[in-house]
Parts: sequence; structure tokens; C-alpha cells
Amino acid sequence: MIVVTGATGTVGSRIVRGLRERGENVRALVRDTRSVPAEWDEGVQPVAADFADPASLDAALAGADAVYLLVAVHPEMAAHERNVIDAAVRGGGRPRIVLHTAAGIEQRPEGVRFVSAHVSGYEHLLASGLPWTVLAPNGFYQNFLGMAADVREGRLTAPGGTGAVSYVDARDVADAAVAVLTGQGHEGAVHTLTGPAGLTHAEIAGQLGAVVGREVTYRAAEPAAALAGMLGAGWDTWRAEGMVELYGLYAAGHASAVSPDVEKLTGRPARSFAEFAAEHAAVLRGGDAA
Ligand SMILES: NC(=O)c1ccc[n+]([C@@H]2O[C@H](COP(=O)([O-])OP(=O)(O)OC[C@H]3O[C@@H](n4cnc5c(N)ncnc54)[C@H](OP(=O)(O)O)[C@@H]3O)[C@@H](O)[C@H]2O)c1
Repeated sequence: MIVVTGATGTVGSRIVRGLRERGENVRALVRDTRSVPAEWDEGVQPVAADFADPASLDAALAGADAVYLLVAVHPEMAAHERNVIDAAVRGGGRPRIVLHTAAGIEQRPEGVRFVSAHVSGYEHLLASGLPWTVLAPNGFYQNFLGMAADVREGRLTAPGGTGAVSYVDARDVADAAVAVLTGQGHEGAVHTLTGPAGLTHAEIAGQLGAVVGREVTYRAAEPAAALAGMLGAGWDTWRAEGMVELYGLYAAGHASAVSPDVEKLTGRPARSFAEFAAEHAAVLRGGDAA
């Protein structure tokens, strides 16, 4: 049995779909079993658990052969990863853990809390003695869908400086995860998942502009101004500060490297940002969700 955590989210929902397409039965860890995606058929067993509740994790992981361990961005996300790993150890069945992290965990950049949290989970996994694989995706193309209103006004504003970022499509992350979960020989591997090119935010603005049919101009915000903007929009402080730290990594050019791992795992090239933008034209232009 494959257990998927974060099963209702951007990546996890696509992993559940991909596993079902391959005929795999899935146990999907959710917080509320009363509201699960309508597409889940009898091959998906929803199980209620919370990353902060070890007893619920014991029940959710019982009898698991493999666990896709994806936690949400949260001040306690490192503890959440440790809690799932500890539950897997307590279960005694030595399930394979596929840990979803973020690009950069091997470089261990200082002062980037999201990456540091994943490094902590990774170290805990190594110490656990469980068989493991790590997926380390760069930022998702899908993040730009949340900026569609500004894009339609001709603006893309972020504290990303002039650094290039090899953003990746979350669908490719999910496809890579399905390949690892259903395949052999990935034990002890860290797969870095990126798109096919490093793009500056100015280049991304240009590609978004081509889809929405107007010029879109990138403005590199100062970190302090970006933080104030996020706090003003209602973000919690921990997350907003974390985003500014992450964009600092981007601005310094430390997230630009392109990895071949999506193609190695899925057997086809990683989707380009241009393809993604064209496929999501309706959302970007303000029509119905694509
Ligand atoms: N976004 C990016 O660009 C990016 C890039 C690289 C890596 N990452 C990493 O990817 C992960 C986020 O993935 P995502 O975007 O697919 O997540 P997401 O869409 O935010 O979904 C989060 C999932 O976690 C579940 N969840 C939240 N809190 C929980 C709790 N306390 N107990 C149990 N389940 C809980 C949510 O379930 P509910 O339905 O109950 O809310 C949901 O299924 C993070 O670890 C992040 O560091 C993100």
C-alpha cells in the first residue's frame, strides 16, 4: 500500500491521480475525510490524520509499503516531517519513504527557512534507518497563477532581482514522484526537479505577456517592500519572511541550475514555462479555470 500525505494539495492530488492511472491503490492522508476530491474512486482510501498528532499518523501509516511524505509550509513543518518518519519507524514495517523537499537541500543555504526545515527532515530520515528517496523540486510554475490579477494589469512584482530560476511544473513533480513510487532502484537518491531552463523574472513576465496579450513588466521589489506587501495582504509573518528569504536565493542566482532528473524519471522532457502558460491561458486571462 502506498500512503500519500498532502494528498489534497497541488502536488499530492496529482500524485494520487497518477498512481490510480497506473492501477495502484492509495491510502490518502487527509485532515477531514468528509470533504475529499470527487475524483477519488474506491481505489483511494482516505484516512484522517494530522501531522501534529502522532497517534493519528501511526494509524494512517499502518501496513504501508511506501510513503510519499509531503508536508505543507508551516512554522512546524520540520517537526511535521519528523513526526511522519517517527510513525513509520514505530510501525515496524520499514516502509520506503519518498521525502518531498525543495531544491537546495544538498547545498544547505543559510537563512532560508523552508529549505532548512526540509534539511532537518532529510537528516532525520537518514538517521531513521528507513529506506529513502528524496525529491527536491525548484519553485512551481503554478505559483504564478496566484499572480494572474497583477499580470492582467501588466505587472509582475517580486523580490527576485535579476537571478534566473529553473522553475518546474508541479505536474512534472507529481509524474516524477509516481515514477519513483512505482519504480525500483531509487533508494538513497536525491532527485532534483527543475524545468528545462533557468528564466529571469523579466523573461517570465515576457512569456506571461505573450499569453495575456499585453506587455507585462517585471519590477524587482526591494525585500523590505515585498515583505510589507505580503503582510499587508494578510500573509502570516513566518511565511512572508520565508518567501522573502527564498526570493533572496533566487536573486543571487542560486536556483538557476537545470537538472535532467524530470526527464530521467518520466522518460520525457520537463514542460517549459511557455507550454505551462499557454495551457493555463484561461486562468491567466481571467476566464474559467483551465
Ligand atoms: N510551492 C512551491 O513552489 C514549492 C517548491 C518546492 C518545494 N515546495 C514544497 O512543497 C510542499 C508544499 O506542496 P504543495 O504546494 O503541493 O502543498 P499544498 O498545495 O499547500 O497542500 C498542502 C497539503 O498538506 C495538507 N496539510 C496541511 N496541514 C496539514 C496537517 N497539519 N496535517 C495533515 N495534512 C496537512 C493539506 O491538506 P488539507 O486539505 O487538510 O489542507 C494539503 O493536502 C512544501 O513542503 C514546500 O516546501 C513547494
